[in-house]
Parts: sequence; structure tokens; C-alpha cells
Amino acid sequence: MSWVLLAMLALLALLQRGAAQFCSFWNNDCIEPLAQSAVPFSFQPLFPDPITLFYGFDASSSGKGQGPMTKTAFWLEYQDRNINKYAIDTNRTTEIGLRVGNLTGSPSGPNNGCDGIWGPGCSRDIKNAVQHGIFSLSSTGERYHRPLEIALSQMMSNPPPLESCGSQVFDVASIPVHEFIRESVPAQNATVMMPGSGYNPWQVWYIDDMTSHKQASQVAVGIISRSPTYDSEPPHSPDDIQVELVCIQAPQGPPTGSSKDHD
Ligand SMILES: *[C@@H]1O[C@H](CO)[C@@H](O)[C@H](O)[C@H]1NC(C)=O
Ligand SMILES: *[C@@H]1O[C@H](CO)[C@@H](O)[C@H](O)[C@H]1NC(C)=O
Ligand SMILES: *[C@@H]1O[C@H](CO)[C@@H](O)[C@H](O)[C@H]1NC(C)=O
Repeated sequence: MSWVLLAMLALLALLQRGAAQFCSFWNNDCIEPLAQSAVPFSFQPLFPDPITLFYGFDASSSGKGQGPMTKTAFWLEYQDRNINKYAIDTNRTTEIGLRVGNLTGSPSGPNNGCDGIWGPGCSRDIKNAVQHGIFSLSSTGERYHRPLEIALSQMMSNPPPLESCGSQVFDVASIPVHEFIRESVPAQNATVMMPGSGYNPWQVWYIDDMTSHKQASQVAVGIISRSPTYDSEPPHSPDDIQVELVCIQAPQGPPTGSSKDHD
């Protein structure tokens, strides 16, 4: 056999494997989800059209040998990156974080399904807490990047009192955050991240001691903020910081019998 033929056979074998499974459980820059869902939501005034949050997970019943684990990913999709430039009046950064764990329920109602999980008072408390966290950061005059990420990590280590929230909202091991828009003046332009996909998710992380069944009963909460950058005019009040919540639940995986749980 010639080397060319051997090389071609090797390539074919590779291609076939690729077709059978493009992303393994331990590959942390892609996801082949066992369950995935998507929810459109409004992010006005910057996006005239709704944008869509995608959330999915994969599972391994043995994990690293110490019990089950899941692999979780999220990203946003938008039909185009056409944004409303008239809404750009200061330097801002827009980020999204996703919180998964210790929260079950079925999304419904206002605040993109979150009010059905914990009631309107709790949605308001969480938005206020995030707004205040970012507001005090931006009032310090210090240089910072990713204000949502900073505010969330502060709230995870030092939970704010959220009077209308029953459970501990920030009681999770991690809330991965991704920055996706940067607005700037005086040019009134913006850099918008390429939309994500299963091949190119924005964040991928692993959750210990979580089974696919347990994760399917969880509600994932997207927290989106549009905040001033450190070099912008400081905001007048916390209300100048836009915060949106989106609650989403992944459906149970494929019909029983065709489960593709990796072992
Ligand atoms: C749920 O809460 C417990 C107790 O605070 C914590 O140790 C655990 O990491 C949380 N679960 C997740 C998935 O973050
Ligand atoms: C905005 O426009 C200015 C001037 O044309 C340019 O220097 C800058 O890189 C642009 N910024 C973004 C975020 O596109
Ligand atoms: C906004 O960002 C631009 C560069 O992107 C910078 O030149 C300017 O000083 C920043 N701040 C304000 C308040 O315009």
C-alpha cells in the first residue's frame, strides 16, 4: 500500500470518528449536549430584535471516578450584529453570567420566566443587588474590567440580604461570566462578539456530584448587565445600570433507551 493510501485511510477513520462524536465530555471548548434549550428575550434598547440564550449540558455518570459530573455550556445567538447605535451614549460593557445549581422549578411569567421561580419581589431584589454592586464598583474611580464578574464574585463570597428570596441565590460554586459587547463614544460604535454555538460555546464548566437527572430539574439563571466601563462618566444612580434576568430549564435528554450518557 502506498503512503498516500495509508494517509487517506487514516484521514477517513478520523473523519468517521468526528462524525460519530464531535466533542467528548472532557473537551472543554465545545459541547455535544445531552439536553439543550433556548429562550429568546428582549435586550432593548441595544438590540432592536430579541436575542436568544442557549443552555445545554452533557453528563458522565462516573466523572473523574469520584461520582457523577455534568458539563454545562451557554452562549447567545443573534440574527445579526446590527445594534441600535443611537442607544450608545457612554462607554459601556455588556456581560452575561449563568448560575446553575441549588435551584429547581419551572420558569414562567415576567422577567423572562424568573418570576415564576421565586416571585417578582425576588427578581427585583436580585436586580437591585447586582445594580448596587456594579454601581459601587464604578464609583470607586478604580480601573476595572468585567464589572458583572467582579460584582457576582463579591456577592458569592459575601451574600447580600435578599428579603424576598427564599433560598440562597448566590449559593453556587461558580457563575461563569462572558463579556460580549463593548460600546464606545464619541464614535458611537460597538464591538459585538460573534454569536456562539455548540462548536463554539462562550463558557464551558464542570459541576461535581451532579447527575443528568438532577441537572434537568435545575433552573439556569442568566444574569445580563450593561454597565459603564471604568473610563466612562460615572453613573448617577444604580438605575443607570441595566440588568436583565432570564430563567431557562433544559428538557430531559433523548427518549429513554437512547441515552448517550458517557461512561
Ligand atoms: C450548592 O450549595 C452547596 C452548599 O453551599 C455548595 O457546596 C454547592 O457547591 C452548591 N452546588 C452547586 C452546583 O454550586
Ligand atoms: C470606533 O471608531 C473609532 C474611530 O473610527 C475606532 O478607532 C474604534 O476602534 C472603533 N471602536 C469599536 C469598538 O469599533
Ligand atoms: C471612552 O472610550 C474611548 C476609547 O474607546 C476613550 O477615548 C474615552 O476617553 C472614553 N471615555 C469617555 C468618557 O469618553
